Amino acid sequence: MRIFVTGGAGYIGSHTCVELLNNNYEIVVIDNFSNSKRDVIDKIKEITKKDFVFYEGDVTDKALLSKIFKENKIDAVIHFAGFKAVGESVSKPLMYYHNNLESTINLLEVMNEFDVKKIAFSSSATVYGKPDSLPIKEDFKLSTTNPYGTTKLMIEMILNDLYKSDNEWSIAILRYFNPIGAHESGLIGENPNDIPNNLMPYIMKVAVGELDHLNIFGNDYDTHDGTGVRDYIHVVDLAKGHIKAIEKVLKSTGCDTYNLGTGTGYSVLDIVKAFESVNNVKIPYEIVGRRPGDIDACYADPTKSLKLLGFKATKNLEDMCKDSYNFVRRSKHE
Ligand code: NAD
Ligand code: UD1
Repeated sequence: MRIFVTGGAGYIGSHTCVELLNNNYEIVVIDNFSNSKRDVIDKIKEITKKDFVFYEGDVTDKALLSKIFKENKIDAVIHFAGFKAVGESVSKPLMYYHNNLESTINLLEVMNEFDVKKIAFSSSATVYGKPDSLPIKEDFKLSTTNPYGTTKLMIEMILNDLYKSDNEWSIAILRYFNPIGAHESGLIGENPNDIPNNLMPYIMKVAVGELDHLNIFGNDYDTHDGTGVRDYIHVVDLAKGHIKAIEKVLKSTGCDTYNLGTGTGYSVLDIVKAFESVNNVKIPYEIVGRRPGDIDACYADPTKSLKLLGFKATKNLEDMCKDSYNFVRRSKHE
């Protein structure tokens, strides 16, 4: 089976390419490196000792997509490509709507044209807004607070409409919770160039001395220690969830939505303490005011993914902290 992976040089995409190759799928990958580095493609080959077809290009380029589908017999698609920075989406909404929506619509049109009607799409737990209760189930009401989240919700609606119009489609909408960690080789992981917005990339930069301390956004939340609680999932577990999702879309039709999380919530202080103790490193921190838009707690009910996809995360918080640190130290010495 040959899977077309958009955004395959990115953080989750690169780990998923590794899992696909390890599971004997052939892959065809596209990325424009707008948020990733060229050498990731070689690292995927180094880890798996396998080769694959790569196109440097933009998923908004419909002619290029047609060329790719002409040159390769594609069985299914995993669509990661998109912009994902919440703050940037507020200041540059058109850039987000253009990139995330146009790429998806072009991709779906070309898939339709080539009669490839099987896709797994990267959505986000952000579409749950501020949940009324926890853990979060797939049928909870949806809302968004920023243009990034709105692009995800709009694409979910497009995919649902598409399936309603043509029941030959097979669609898995994957709502990721908080991916952290890295491949155990330390060759691929998440390493933003700018000052990170998200917790683990920030902690990693503090751990290697690139930033002097972590700001913890609020300790007055309604959680066990007052700091925000999230459902952190190891990126390799998340990548394995895509294998399960692709197996499912390849053998059935329908449009289904799945939470990809662990079902366990950890606070910011839980993460800091675990990172310090697993890696024997100090993470100095200061408690500052809340970050606008943040919620107290967010964690998944993973029952549906277990039941329908057979997916269960297996790595623990120690693995997530160890692999994150291993990756950042290794990339610093390269
Ligand atoms: P990432 O930025 O590391 O990966 C996205 C990749 O897509 C990058 O390599 C980027 O260069 C590429 N890309 C972007 N626009 C493109 C375009 N028009 N054409 C070709 N390539 C393009 O992000 P990630 O963390 O790997 O996330 C993957 C997907 O999962 C995204 O859609 C993101 O919104 C979604 N998601 C991520 C998280 C998270 O916390 N990382 C959470 C929920 C959902
Ligand atoms: C982020 C995204 C959200 C996405 C989710 C899952 C933002 C603003 N939101 O939110 O859209 O759905 O990931 O991928 O990017 N924290 C600190 N200090 C920091 C950074 C974070 O204390 O420097 C805290 C936050 O307040 C939060 C927790 O750490 O309580 C996790 O933050 P983050 O990693 O940004 O994830 P989300 O808030 O879940």
